[in-house]
Amino acid sequence: MKFYWITILAVLFFVAGCKDDDGPMDCTDCPDQDIIVGPYEPVSYSLEIPEWINAQPIIPTDNALTVDGIELGRHLFYDPILSSDSTQACASCHIQEKAFTDGLNVSKGVLGMTGRRSSMSIVNMAYNNDGFFWDGRAESLEAQALLPVEDHLELNESWENVVEKLRRHPDYPQLFRKAFGLEKKSEITKELAVKAIAQFERTLLSFDSKYDQVVWRNDGEFTEEEEMGKSLFFFEQSQLVNHPGCSHCHNNGDRFFTNNKYFNNGIEDVDDLTAFPDYGRGEVTNSVYDNGKFRAPSLRNIELTAPYMHDGRFQTLEEVIAHYMSGGHGVENEDSNIKMFPLTEDEQAAMIAFLKTLTDEQFIQNPAFSNPFE
Ligand code: HEC
Ligand code: HEC
Repeated sequence: MKFYWITILAVLFFVAGCKDDDGPMDCTDCPDQDIIVGPYEPVSYSLEIPEWINAQPIIPTDNALTVDGIELGRHLFYDPILSSDSTQACASCHIQEKAFTDGLNVSKGVLGMTGRRSSMSIVNMAYNNDGFFWDGRAESLEAQALLPVEDHLELNESWENVVEKLRRHPDYPQLFRKAFGLEKKSEITKELAVKAIAQFERTLLSFDSKYDQVVWRNDGEFTEEEEMGKSLFFFEQSQLVNHPGCSHCHNNGDRFFTNNKYFNNGIEDVDDLTAFPDYGRGEVTNSVYDNGKFRAPSLRNIELTAPYMHDGRFQTLEEVIAHYMSGGHGVENEDSNIKMFPLTEDEQAAMIAFLKTLTDEQFIQNPAFSNPFE
């Protein structure tokens, strides 16, 4: 009798061996386990872009937007499955109500350790043509999304494990099939995961602030204060030699509020170009002249993304304006548009009132951008 049970158990173990409860999945012997059944009916997705936007969104030819691709990307963006201890997702440091920043000076990863830089807003990324991150080290959104997972100061997980978890998950194989037509779980890869995340990120467009309504839709008007701030920002009427000059860098056709270029905007007081605490762009180009340069971020939703600068050194917009008024520190590669300029208290308040017209309530409330698990 005992022998009989042992034989049965042995047979059961043999069968169970084809399942993949422990250890890495090796499905070569059991193809049935690997097959994903379910629909694949791709529906292409067009971004809703106002007609007054005069530039084309950048969408790689090998990653066209589809409804299901975006939906998969949204799930991955919000899912702590991407982190080593299942506590953090991309969305932990990119929170919708803060225009996809995290409100911290510098971000904190799963190990509780802080990184060296401040989280960035994920807004109008489809129009960024000159590198991602403060220093531009990632060339595409796809390339960017590969990095946080394995960064020890962020999600601290290996892609190998993430892919394994996704293949075993009750829902993700179906979502990957819907998005990319996969036939087998073993076809799920990190490359497809980041394609989906990038698709979702390309939908995060913000073109519906008060500024857009007044300037581009002829809907409503600025207050006198906002109007004054606007002329200072764009130095419209100002023939002054020393003007704030903001729109030299934070502008592109009065629409994007960044030119996506790299500058030293004068925040660091260092003796020479090798003394910057963070080399920024110089780390990427290896040119000493680029040390201390960072990407001029878009000022859209700037009211929501404090603290400010790559290291979160300024807590308020008042401090930011005070910095620019002071004219920087005269470091060799400081941009020539960083000059001391006088502003009255009313003018400073007006600039801030103008910057607040760039807040887009639709963007931070859009249910399509929110957590799909809630
Ligand atoms: C621990 C916090 C943290 C997590 C988790 C995190 N990020 Fe970030 N993110 C940052 C920080 C900090 C930066 C700026 C880093 C730098 O410039 O070196 C950044 C930058 C970015 C940028 C660049 C934006 C721009 O304008 O160039 C994108 C896009 C982005 N993150 C997407 C993601 C995605 C997708 C994930 C998940 C796969 C993710 N982030 C996870 C903190 C985080
Ligand atoms: C020479 C180009 C240049 C000019 C002129 C300029 N900026 Fe900037 N701005 C930058 C760069 C580059 C950064 C990022 C610097 C960093 O993080 O180290 C930045 C950062 C900012 C930030 C913080 C953004 C964030 O997400 O943390 C604000 C706010 C800002 N600038 C507002 C202004 C205003 C208002 C003016 C005009 C008074 C102005 N800037 C003029 C290049 C410029």
